[in-house]
Amino acid sequence: MPQVNSFDLLLFGGTGDLAMRKLLPALYFRHRDGDLPPHGRILGLAREQLGRSDFIAKVKASFASFVAAADMDEATFASFAERLDYAKVEANTPEDFNALAEVMKASLAEVRVFFLSTAPDFFAPICKNLAAAGLVNANSRVVLEKPLGRDLASAQKINEDVGSVFAEPQIFRIDHYLGKEPVQNLLALRFANALLEPLWNRTWVRNVQITIAEQVGVETRGEFYDRTGALRDMVQNHLLQLLCIVAMEPPTSIHPDAVRDEKLKVLRALTPFTQADVGSRTVRGQYRAGTVNGQAVPGYLEEAGIPPDTSTETYVAIRAELESWRWSGVPFYLRTGKRMAERSAEIVVNFRSVPHSIFPSNGTESAGNRLVIQLQPEESLKLFMMAKVPGDTMNLRPVGLNLDFAEQFKQRPMEAYERLLLDAIRGNLTLFMRRDELDAAWRWCEPILNGWRNAGEAPRPYSAGSWGPAASSALVGRDGASWREES
Ligand code: BG6
Repeated sequence: MPQVNSFDLLLFGGTGDLAMRKLLPALYFRHRDGDLPPHGRILGLAREQLGRSDFIAKVKASFASFVAAADMDEATFASFAERLDYAKVEANTPEDFNALAEVMKASLAEVRVFFLSTAPDFFAPICKNLAAAGLVNANSRVVLEKPLGRDLASAQKINEDVGSVFAEPQIFRIDHYLGKEPVQNLLALRFANALLEPLWNRTWVRNVQITIAEQVGVETRGEFYDRTGALRDMVQNHLLQLLCIVAMEPPTSIHPDAVRDEKLKVLRALTPFTQADVGSRTVRGQYRAGTVNGQAVPGYLEEAGIPPDTSTETYVAIRAELESWRWSGVPFYLRTGKRMAERSAEIVVNFRSVPHSIFPSNGTESAGNRLVIQLQPEESLKLFMMAKVPGDTMNLRPVGLNLDFAEQFKQRPMEAYERLLLDAIRGNLTLFMRRDELDAAWRWCEPILNGWRNAGEAPRPYSAGSWGPAASSALVGRDGASWREES
């Protein structure tokens, strides 16, 4: 990949929540550690009429909440602020784009990155107006934030609109889960070690569980969330992308298309859902009032911006299967929920137990070996092996071989957006979703959404602070399996 020495990053939605919470802090850290190309300007773009110094003051004020005090230092912020600028741009106002083109005329930057951190309704007008103002050239890239559609047709429309201005290799579709350090490590674990590969298939793997549990509720995003629900918000993107990394065949190289081709094959191998499957292989839930971390919290229907009779799901569990030689018959259990007992994102690979145990039974031998890749709250990788408990009896218990990244490498882990922004500036597409991946993910999810709608059943209630509806334990229980916290 050619080295990039200069860039312009144009941040649409530059004063928005994501920009303030994640994107600008991420750029600050990469600036601090000297990873950003030396000549690089970051231009916040939004509807508000702000001067450059107002924007810098706003960024600084928000860093008080989103950058730890220990990481904030005046001199570093001052040098970061030299990169910052601001312009007022309304997505639907062509004159604003012409004015922006005037500002950009003098720029000699090698690369121009447009980051669209806006609602997807603005993607089409922004792209059209950028092109009309002559702001797009061969060295331009566009980064798109989710949600990318609410079904296959709307996702295709977004892709058509953006694709009429940018060629596919210029389009960076973000899934921030792919930028998380342990996901990178899973790639290293699978493809830089020979040890696991012979076991990584239906012969040795009993099931795979992928969980993203959150303790937060819908926060201030009630209106958006109620139109979206857990399947669109988390499964269609984050959970399926994690599944791809676990299940894909070894790519021939780390070249973006080599990796994305293999991920695409996984998405296309997912067994499609029929109406009957939707009833038997999925569970939808909605939280009721309860206690999370010792604090009483309201139910979903009492949250701000939520209609009292809504049937939007805040929890989903799915039993997925892949039609491939490697994975045929192996259940992939996916689940995610808001207001769960713990904040935890993890991938658990459960291996089969030994064919015949020579030790006296104490109930734990059915546990088998287990690999746990934890993404949150801690980043770690544990391989559970059966070991003997010290003492005079042959008492066995699973014990974890623990790779604790924080302990091993003793350096601040890079946040997902730090890596993804650097990749977008450098032009590395490996961790971004290609159009055909997005289509395939929607093709699989859409029948689930339709099945739920046709069935017309309300989501199952669960108490805030629990692990979701009881039906979710039954879903895995039918295979003789249990979720990790239950076993
Ligand atoms: C976002 C969802 O994509 O991911 C949010 O829209 C969710 O609803 C968030 O809270 C979770 O991300 P993370 O990195 O905090 O686990």
